[in-house]
Amino acid sequence: MPTMSSRVAPFGTTIFTEINQLALQHNAINLGQGRPDFDAPADIIGAAMNALRGAYYNQYAPGAGAPSLRKAVALHANRFYNADVDPNAGVIVTAGATEAVFSSVLGLVDRGDEVIVIEPYFDSYVPNILMAGATPIYVPLHPPHWTFDPDELRAAFNSKTRAIILNTPQNPTGRVFTLEELTLIADLCKEHDVTVISDEVYEHLIFDSARHIPIATLPGMFERTVTVSSLGKTFSVTGWKIGWVWGTPDLIKGVAQAHQFVTFAVNHPAQEAAAYALSLPGTYFEDFQAMYTGKRDLMMRALNGAGLKARTPEGTYFVMADFSDVFDGDDLEFSRYLTAEVGVACIPPTFFYSTPHAHMASTMARFAFCKSDKMLQEAAERLATLAR
Ligand SMILES: Cc1ncc(COP(=O)(O)O)c(C=O)c1O
Repeated sequence: MPTMSSRVAPFGTTIFTEINQLALQHNAINLGQGRPDFDAPADIIGAAMNALRGAYYNQYAPGAGAPSLRKAVALHANRFYNADVDPNAGVIVTAGATEAVFSSVLGLVDRGDEVIVIEPYFDSYVPNILMAGATPIYVPLHPPHWTFDPDELRAAFNSKTRAIILNTPQNPTGRVFTLEELTLIADLCKEHDVTVISDEVYEHLIFDSARHIPIATLPGMFERTVTVSSLGKTFSVTGWKIGWVWGTPDLIKGVAQAHQFVTFAVNHPAQEAAAYALSLPGTYFEDFQAMYTGKRDLMMRALNGAGLKARTPEGTYFVMADFSDVFDGDDLEFSRYLTAEVGVACIPPTFFYSTPHAHMASTMARFAFCKSDKMLQEAAERLATLAR
């Protein structure tokens, strides 16, 4: 009997499938998956509809991406980070950041190489590395402040290290790496001649005084970094799956070589709308941050009211909360209990760790606050029963 390949057999089913099913079954408020429950701005949807009606955009886009979007990505990188990106040779448009990371790994890493991953990590990174025939090397962020130990980071680099996958602002911890942290990573990458794949999908989701710094903008880093982002988070269109990679043409060429045989080209009308969205004035991005600051504050009040301890996130729409004061058991048991008995779904974060480090998050749960204020208030009321 034909069976699945040994390459994919160990992957199992993602925890999101189980929690989503459980949430549906118990009519729980789903703070598990990072999926906004409110719609994208009407003008962005209008831009997509105009592109659909335009006839021209209903056929294949150029493989590297619609020229309008490649130009918008380059202009956006220049506007926000003063980066000098070539829209023709320095940008590839992908099927979300997910494909952007996968095509980057396939295009920039060889079989047998080592790739450093900071834990807890976004769940596709490790399967991506394994499918490329490379080996993940794990560096944990330590709770409760979610910082890495510089010595542990240094020890992960050696002559086999080909790349590091970085994510800032960081899912699931809500950390935004500081200039000091990024400088240490950059120095090690330069010393060991390592490529950075920097996943920055939450680049516009930052709070208070936090500042998002693309590692590509540090001295000597543009030439060894590919920067990944996507439309989904910043414009509340996670279903569109439009992402991109920008960087130096030498590295982007590798990403393009993989991308042409992964998806070749991605949704053309959505790319036209993405070009419109990325070019919106600064007020869009400021209002977006203000809206999410309010949601973050609602979420923090809900967690405090429930007796869950959490470090206030500086970025992203996630927060990690420690439930050890109110529940005896591990994170999977807590997530199942909260979903089924309290009616609020959350994600057990040990699934975002390698086995030796998973214990670090065994009393933690990840909550997503990309939900309407009404939903967050309702979740707060349900969560309050935990403290009682
Ligand atoms: C850190 C991180 N990278 C990538 C993605 C996937 O982005 P996309 O939907 O654009 O593929 C997500 C989505 O949750 C994420 O949190």
